[in-house]
Amino acid sequence: MVFRNILLCAMLFGTRHKRRPSGGAAIVRQATIDDVPAIVSLERDSPLASHWSEAAYRTAFEPGAPTRMVLVCRDEDQTTGRKNLLQGFLLARISGGECELENIVVAGHFQRRGIGTQLMQALIKAALEQRALQIFLEVRESNAAARSLYAKLGFQITNRRQSYYNHPTEDAFLYALALKESGD
Ligand SMILES: CC(C)(COP(=O)(O)OP(=O)(O)OC[C@H]1O[C@@H](n2cnc3c(N)ncnc32)[C@H](O)[C@@H]1OP(=O)(O)O)[C@@H](O)C(=O)NCCC(=O)NCCS
Repeated sequence: MVFRNILLCAMLFGTRHKRRPSGGAAIVRQATIDDVPAIVSLERDSPLASHWSEAAYRTAFEPGAPTRMVLVCRDEDQTTGRKNLLQGFLLARISGGECELENIVVAGHFQRRGIGTQLMQALIKAALEQRALQIFLEVRESNAAARSLYAKLGFQITNRRQSYYNHPTEDAFLYALALKESGD
């Protein structure tokens, strides 16, 4: 258990963040309902993302809604003229000791610069704070980028669902990251 926590700490705090295209600082923070239009626009541009209606995203911010983490990464560099540009977001549901990653998208122009890693590290930290025992997710078999990201963060394949996705039909791989040993 101690060893697992040391590994998680190394993953959360030990990763060197790659240089931003603008050279400025991108920050990950909790989203507000004002972020929803940009989230929807980014999600629509990503065929591999899960697709939700704008109303469904808005529901995540309603009082009494199931506990969700909505995290955004925005460019705070004032020199680009694109201050507050949404670079990426993720959405996860935390319930009953489990955290399910429901969506993660990084804008094409900003991919491969560590933003997906930063978002996932923030989710792991939040899930630990909420005493979740694991984070799980499902992903298309052919989604090499996402699968590599999850594997780098320590996620393990737990199952495979045949022909789970449509358009095109494809298997899903289920991944999980154990955060704590049960009974701990
Ligand atoms: C998956 C996604 C969120 C990754 O975001 P990102 O900011 O590019 O990820 P990072 O820069 O943090 O990359 C971390 C690791 O992921 C892997 N990775 C990311 N992009 C990759 C690519 N195009 N090909 C192969 N591996 C890739 C690499 O292992 C990378 O580490 P490295 O750059 O040191 O080799 C992004 O590609 C994306 O938005 N894809 C479309 C939406 C999607 O597929 N969502 C997941 C649905 S389950």
